[in-house]
Amino acid sequence: MSAVKRIAVLVSGGGTNLQALIDAQNRGELVNGEIAAVIASKPGAYALERAAKAGIPGYVVARKDYPNNQAMTTALVDKLKRLDIDLVVLAGFMVILTEAMVKAYPNAILNVHPALIPSFCGEGYYGLHVHEKALEYGVKVSGATVHFVSEECDGGPIVLQKAVEVRADDTPETLQRRIMEQAEWVILPQAVSLFCQGRLRAEGRTVHILP
Ligand code: GAR
Repeated sequence: MSAVKRIAVLVSGGGTNLQALIDAQNRGELVNGEIAAVIASKPGAYALERAAKAGIPGYVVARKDYPNNQAMTTALVDKLKRLDIDLVVLAGFMVILTEAMVKAYPNAILNVHPALIPSFCGEGYYGLHVHEKALEYGVKVSGATVHFVSEECDGGPIVLQKAVEVRADDTPETLQRRIMEQAEWVILPQAVSLFCQGRLRAEGRTVHILP
């Protein structure tokens, strides 16, 4: 296998998906991968405390320090290159990155989205809003998707998906929690490990998982 892949996890908030990755790493389940950096878009993000507790270097590239998403993306790419990062993971990262990021890391950025893409995705669909929309629509099944990031918001090739039942008495909060526990925290570490082992091959929209 090739050299151990250096992973950067980009976060904006609580960082439970980051925690799932840290826990997977501690169990030896991020095969051929190492979380080398956590980068937050907000100075106070709790995810940074999780990183510190795990002994992982944490950095802040704050959206508010840049005039627009493009300028922030340029700064982020610069940071990632200086840290010699191979794989970028967006784990609850709430800034829409521009083309420069995708060009710098083609098929090497993974995002976790809390719905079954192409449902309930795209601009404006993030965090709790996704679950509010799913409940409003009345779906009986939702779930999570891990996909490669492309120029189109939530539109890149799908790596893994997992379905989760919607219950009659669900609130956005209870649905969010169930989708995190049963889907996001399971498929995100799996997808990261597959990438680090060189087992993901994108062909157009289809991602093949190699044995
Ligand atoms: C997660 O549910 C993640 O899928 C979602 O935000 C939450 C972050 O939680 N991401 C998006 O909606 C991106 N479009 P976390 O900080 O506890 O991992």
